[in-house]
Amino acid sequence: MDMYALDADALRGKRVLDCPGGPSGLVAGAIERDINMVAVDPQYSETAETLARRGADDIKLTINKARKDPSLRMEDSEYAVFEQEKQNALAAFMQAYRVHPERFVVGSLPELPFENGAFDLVLSGHLLFVYAPRSLGGIMKSELFDLDFHIAAVRELIRVGKEVRIFPTYAFTGEVRRQPWVEPVSEIFRREGHEVSFIPSRWQQQGHVDFNDSLRIVRGV
Ligand SMILES: C[S@@+](CC[C@H](N)C(=O)[O-])C[C@H]1O[C@@H](n2cnc3c(N)ncnc32)[C@H](O)[C@@H]1O
Repeated sequence: MDMYALDADALRGKRVLDCPGGPSGLVAGAIERDINMVAVDPQYSETAETLARRGADDIKLTINKARKDPSLRMEDSEYAVFEQEKQNALAAFMQAYRVHPERFVVGSLPELPFENGAFDLVLSGHLLFVYAPRSLGGIMKSELFDLDFHIAAVRELIRVGKEVRIFPTYAFTGEVRRQPWVEPVSEIFRREGHEVSFIPSRWQQQGHVDFNDSLRIVRGV
Protein backbone atom coordinates (compact mmCIF):
# COMPACT_ATOMS: atom_id res chain seq x y z
CA MET A 1 0.00 0.00 0.00
CA ASP A 2 2.85 2.39 0.85
CA MET A 3 4.49 1.56 -2.45
CA TYR A 4 1.47 3.05 -4.25
CA ALA A 5 0.73 5.64 -1.51
CA LEU A 6 -2.69 4.06 -0.93
CA ASP A 7 -4.78 3.26 2.15
CA ALA A 8 -7.13 0.36 2.69
CA ASP A 9 -10.03 2.76 3.34
CA ALA A 10 -9.58 4.36 -0.08
CA LEU A 11 -9.83 0.94 -1.75
CA ARG A 12 -12.87 -0.44 0.05
CA GLY A 13 -15.84 -0.65 -2.32
CA LYS A 14 -13.60 -0.42 -5.40
CA ARG A 15 -12.76 -3.16 -7.89
CA VAL A 16 -8.97 -3.47 -7.85
CA LEU A 17 -6.60 -5.46 -10.07
CA ASP A 18 -2.99 -6.33 -9.20
CA CYS A 19 -1.12 -6.93 -12.48
CA PRO A 20 1.18 -8.77 -12.21
CA GLY A 21 0.36 -10.24 -8.80
CA GLY A 22 3.36 -12.61 -8.69
CA PRO A 23 3.91 -14.49 -5.42
CA SER A 24 3.21 -11.37 -3.34
CA GLY A 25 1.04 -10.82 -0.28
CA LEU A 26 -1.07 -7.99 -1.70
CA VAL A 27 -4.26 -9.95 -2.45
CA ALA A 28 -3.94 -11.79 0.87
CA GLY A 29 -3.78 -8.42 2.65
CA ALA A 30 -6.75 -7.19 0.61
CA ILE A 31 -8.85 -10.21 1.60
CA GLU A 32 -8.09 -9.53 5.28
CA ARG A 33 -9.20 -5.91 4.86
CA ASP A 34 -12.35 -6.71 2.89
CA ILE A 35 -11.03 -5.20 -0.35
CA ASN A 36 -12.30 -6.51 -3.68
CA MET A 37 -8.97 -7.28 -5.37
CA VAL A 38 -7.92 -9.92 -7.86
CA ALA A 39 -4.45 -10.58 -9.25
CA VAL A 40 -3.42 -11.69 -12.71
CA ASP A 41 -0.11 -13.32 -13.66
CA PRO A 42 1.07 -15.93 -16.22
CA GLN A 43 2.51 -17.92 -13.28
CA TYR A 44 -0.97 -18.65 -11.93
CA SER A 45 -1.26 -21.52 -14.39
CA GLU A 46 1.04 -23.40 -11.96
CA THR A 47 0.03 -25.49 -8.96
CA ALA A 48 0.41 -24.15 -5.41
CA GLU A 49 3.27 -26.62 -4.79
CA THR A 50 5.24 -25.36 -7.81
CA LEU A 51 4.74 -21.72 -6.83
CA ALA A 52 5.74 -22.40 -3.21
CA ARG A 53 8.96 -24.08 -4.34
CA ARG A 54 9.72 -21.41 -6.94
CA GLY A 55 8.98 -18.63 -4.44
CA ALA A 56 11.33 -20.10 -1.83
CA ASP A 57 14.10 -20.55 -4.43
CA ASP A 58 13.63 -16.97 -5.67
CA ILE A 59 13.96 -15.58 -2.15
CA LYS A 60 17.27 -17.42 -1.65
CA LEU A 61 18.52 -16.26 -5.05
CA THR A 62 17.52 -12.63 -4.43
CA ILE A 63 19.23 -12.54 -1.01
CA ASN A 64 22.41 -14.12 -2.37
CA LYS A 65 22.51 -11.66 -5.27
CA ALA A 66 21.84 -8.70 -2.95
CA ARG A 67 24.68 -9.77 -0.62
CA LYS A 68 27.09 -9.65 -3.57
CA ASP A 69 25.90 -6.21 -4.75
CA PRO A 70 28.34 -3.60 -3.34
CA SER A 71 25.99 -0.72 -4.20
CA LEU A 72 23.44 -1.92 -1.64
CA ARG A 73 25.68 -1.84 1.44
CA MET A 74 23.02 -3.45 3.63
CA GLU A 75 23.81 -4.65 7.16
CA ASP A 76 23.47 -8.37 8.01
CA SER A 77 20.49 -7.58 10.23
CA GLU A 78 18.78 -5.77 7.31
CA TYR A 79 19.16 -8.85 5.09
CA ALA A 80 17.57 -10.95 7.83
CA VAL A 81 14.59 -8.57 8.07
CA PHE A 82 14.27 -8.43 4.26
CA GLU A 83 14.33 -12.24 4.02
CA GLN A 84 11.76 -12.60 6.81
CA GLU A 85 9.43 -10.08 5.13
CA LYS A 86 9.73 -11.95 1.82
CA GLN A 87 8.96 -15.24 3.53
CA ASN A 88 5.95 -13.76 5.32
CA ALA A 89 4.63 -12.39 2.01
CA LEU A 90 5.12 -15.77 0.31
CA ALA A 91 3.33 -17.58 3.14
CA ALA A 92 0.40 -15.13 2.97
CA PHE A 93 0.27 -15.53 -0.82
CA MET A 94 0.32 -19.35 -0.62
CA GLN A 95 -2.52 -19.38 1.92
CA ALA A 96 -4.67 -17.05 -0.23
CA TYR A 97 -3.78 -18.93 -3.45
CA ARG A 98 -4.95 -22.23 -1.94
CA VAL A 99 -8.09 -20.93 -0.23
CA HIS A 100 -9.24 -18.29 -2.76
CA PRO A 101 -8.21 -19.54 -6.23
CA GLU A 102 -10.89 -17.32 -7.80
CA ARG A 103 -8.79 -14.26 -6.84
CA PHE A 104 -5.84 -15.43 -8.98
CA VAL A 105 -6.38 -15.25 -12.74
CA VAL A 106 -4.03 -16.60 -15.42
CA GLY A 107 -3.13 -13.95 -17.96
CA SER A 108 -0.31 -11.86 -19.34
CA LEU A 109 0.27 -8.44 -20.75
CA PRO A 110 -0.30 -7.05 -23.28
CA GLU A 111 -3.64 -8.94 -23.46
CA LEU A 112 -5.61 -9.39 -20.26
CA PRO A 113 -8.71 -11.56 -19.91
CA PHE A 114 -10.97 -8.74 -18.61
CA GLU A 115 -13.71 -6.52 -20.04
CA ASN A 116 -13.16 -2.82 -20.79
CA GLY A 117 -13.32 -0.84 -17.54
CA ALA A 118 -13.64 -3.97 -15.38
CA PHE A 119 -11.66 -2.28 -12.56
CA ASP A 120 -11.67 1.09 -10.81
CA LEU A 121 -7.97 0.81 -10.06
CA VAL A 122 -5.13 -1.25 -11.54
CA LEU A 123 -1.84 -1.63 -9.64
CA SER A 124 1.25 -2.77 -11.48
CA GLY A 125 4.47 -3.39 -9.55
CA HIS A 126 7.93 -4.51 -10.58
CA LEU A 127 7.31 -5.56 -14.17
CA LEU A 128 7.06 -2.45 -16.34
CA PHE A 129 10.28 -0.37 -16.42
CA VAL A 130 12.00 -3.09 -14.29
CA TYR A 131 11.99 -5.89 -16.89
CA ALA A 132 13.66 -3.43 -19.30
CA PRO A 133 17.21 -4.13 -20.52
CA ARG A 134 20.08 -3.49 -18.09
CA SER A 135 21.49 -0.82 -20.42
CA LEU A 136 18.29 1.15 -19.70
CA GLY A 137 18.19 0.64 -15.94
CA GLY A 138 16.22 -2.61 -16.00
CA ILE A 139 17.20 -6.14 -14.98
CA MET A 140 17.04 -8.02 -18.30
CA LYS A 141 20.02 -9.07 -20.40
CA SER A 142 17.87 -9.00 -23.57
CA GLU A 143 15.26 -6.59 -24.89
CA LEU A 144 12.42 -9.09 -24.48
CA PHE A 145 10.20 -6.37 -23.01
CA ASP A 146 10.95 -3.46 -25.36
CA LEU A 147 9.43 0.02 -25.52
CA ASP A 148 6.61 -1.18 -27.81
CA PHE A 149 5.72 -3.86 -25.23
CA HIS A 150 5.61 -1.20 -22.51
CA ILE A 151 3.30 1.04 -24.57
CA ALA A 152 0.99 -1.89 -25.44
CA ALA A 153 0.99 -3.08 -21.82
CA VAL A 154 0.09 0.34 -20.41
CA ARG A 155 -2.63 0.72 -23.07
CA GLU A 156 -4.07 -2.60 -21.89
CA LEU A 157 -3.96 -1.57 -18.21
CA ILE A 158 -5.87 1.63 -19.10
CA ARG A 159 -8.39 -0.40 -21.11
CA VAL A 160 -9.31 -2.58 -18.12
CA GLY A 161 -9.00 0.10 -15.40
CA LYS A 162 -10.12 3.69 -14.90
CA GLU A 163 -6.93 4.47 -12.98
CA VAL A 164 -3.52 2.81 -13.21
CA ARG A 165 -0.56 3.07 -10.84
CA ILE A 166 2.81 1.68 -11.92
CA PHE A 167 5.79 1.28 -9.57
CA PRO A 168 8.73 1.87 -9.74
CA THR A 169 9.61 4.61 -12.21
CA TYR A 170 13.29 4.89 -11.23
CA ALA A 171 16.02 2.94 -12.98
CA PHE A 172 16.32 -0.27 -10.99
CA THR A 173 19.97 -0.76 -11.98
CA GLY A 174 22.83 1.54 -12.98
CA GLU A 175 23.07 5.27 -12.38
CA VAL A 176 20.38 7.07 -10.40
CA ARG A 177 17.77 8.35 -12.85
CA ARG A 178 14.19 7.96 -13.99
CA GLN A 179 13.96 4.82 -16.16
CA PRO A 180 14.37 6.26 -19.69
CA TRP A 181 11.07 4.84 -21.05
CA VAL A 182 8.91 6.47 -18.36
CA GLU A 183 8.84 9.87 -20.07
CA PRO A 184 8.06 8.65 -23.65
CA VAL A 185 5.35 6.33 -22.31
CA SER A 186 3.86 9.17 -20.21
CA GLU A 187 3.94 11.55 -23.17
CA ILE A 188 2.05 9.13 -25.43
CA PHE A 189 -0.81 8.72 -22.95
CA ARG A 190 -0.86 12.43 -22.03
CA ARG A 191 -1.23 13.26 -25.73
CA GLU A 192 -4.07 10.75 -26.04
CA GLY A 193 -6.04 12.71 -23.44
CA HIS A 194 -5.33 10.78 -20.24
CA GLU A 195 -4.30 12.47 -16.98
CA VAL A 196 -0.70 11.53 -16.17
CA SER A 197 1.12 12.36 -12.93
CA PHE A 198 3.67 11.02 -10.45
CA ILE A 199 2.68 10.03 -6.91
CA PRO A 200 5.53 9.95 -4.35
CA SER A 201 5.88 6.51 -2.80
CA ARG A 202 5.77 6.18 0.99
CA TRP A 203 7.93 3.05 0.77
CA GLN A 204 11.61 2.89 -0.01
CA GLN A 205 13.56 -0.12 -1.24
CA GLN A 206 17.26 -0.76 -1.49
CA GLY A 207 18.29 2.85 -0.96
CA HIS A 208 16.24 4.26 -3.88
CA VAL A 209 15.35 7.77 -2.73
CA ASP A 210 15.26 9.79 -5.96
CA PHE A 211 12.38 9.29 -8.42
CA ASN A 212 10.68 7.11 -5.81
CA ASP A 213 7.24 7.60 -7.39
CA SER A 214 4.51 5.60 -9.02
CA LEU A 215 3.25 6.68 -12.43
CA ARG A 216 -0.48 7.43 -12.19
CA ILE A 217 -2.64 7.45 -15.31
CA VAL A 218 -6.32 8.30 -15.06
CA ARG A 219 -8.36 7.39 -18.10
CA GLY A 220 -9.52 10.58 -19.78
CA VAL A 221 -11.34 9.24 -22.82
C1 LIG B 1 8.70 -9.32 -9.64
S1 LIG B 1 7.10 -9.97 -9.92
C2 LIG B 1 6.09 -8.64 -9.37
C3 LIG B 1 5.21 -9.04 -8.22
C4 LIG B 1 4.54 -7.90 -7.47
N1 LIG B 1 3.69 -7.10 -8.30
C5 LIG B 1 5.56 -7.03 -6.76
O1 LIG B 1 5.54 -5.80 -6.95
O2 LIG B 1 6.36 -7.55 -6.00
C6 LIG B 1 6.99 -9.89 -11.66
C7 LIG B 1 5.90 -10.78 -12.21
O3 LIG B 1 5.68 -10.47 -13.58
C8 LIG B 1 5.13 -11.63 -14.15
N2 LIG B 1 5.16 -11.51 -15.63
C9 LIG B 1 6.12 -11.87 -16.49
N3 LIG B 1 5.75 -11.59 -17.75
C10 LIG B 1 4.52 -11.03 -17.69
C11 LIG B 1 3.59 -10.53 -18.65
N4 LIG B 1 3.87 -10.52 -19.97
N5 LIG B 1 2.42 -10.06 -18.21
C12 LIG B 1 2.12 -10.04 -16.89
N6 LIG B 1 2.95 -10.49 -15.95
C13 LIG B 1 4.14 -10.98 -16.33
C14 LIG B 1 5.98 -12.76 -13.59
O4 LIG B 1 5.34 -14.00 -13.67
C15 LIG B 1 6.20 -12.27 -12.15
O5 LIG B 1 5.31 -12.91 -11.27
